[in-house]
Amino acid sequence: MQKLVVAPEFFTLSERALSTAEAQVLAEARKAALNAHAPYSQFFVGAAVQLETGEIVSASNQENASYPSGMCAERVVLNFVGATHPKVKIKTLCIAVVSELKDASRVYAPCGGCRQVISETQARQNNEPIDIIFEGPGDQLTRCCGIEHLLPFTFQLF
Ligand code: THU
Repeated sequence: MQKLVVAPEFFTLSERALSTAEAQVLAEARKAALNAHAPYSQFFVGAAVQLETGEIVSASNQENASYPSGMCAERVVLNFVGATHPKVKIKTLCIAVVSELKDASRVYAPCGGCRQVISETQARQNNEPIDIIFEGPGDQLTRCCGIEHLLPFTFQLF
């Protein structure tokens, strides 16, 4: 048996350290969170992506009275981009949480299901890394360059 060490890398940074373009994507994610339909959780999430063309597309979580029919913000935006801009690469994904439930000590990384969808999205663009920026801890942000840091050994069929 051989031990295999996987060493994902994350960076914490302040908002001031973002590039102008990244700050714009984060601002769009925060704006999008205000359009969340989250009456059941009161957890308002926005996700925004910047495409290689420079275009920014954003969305929010959309819950449903039939709970499993709801959808996370990341999946809403990624599936929309996959459907409407199928050949266009995503450079950056920002995820914002606007909620009274937000806890300053936590980092709001994407959920497991969204990680899988981000992974397939990145695979669709020849694995060109998507820069993923999310909130916390506190006023800080956390980032990683490529979904492999959040989801090593991802499931892929081909
Ligand atoms: N949610 C997201 O939008 N993104 C995530 O990565 C995790 C959770 C949403 C789903 C649900 O509407 C609410 O947050 C509470 O889980």
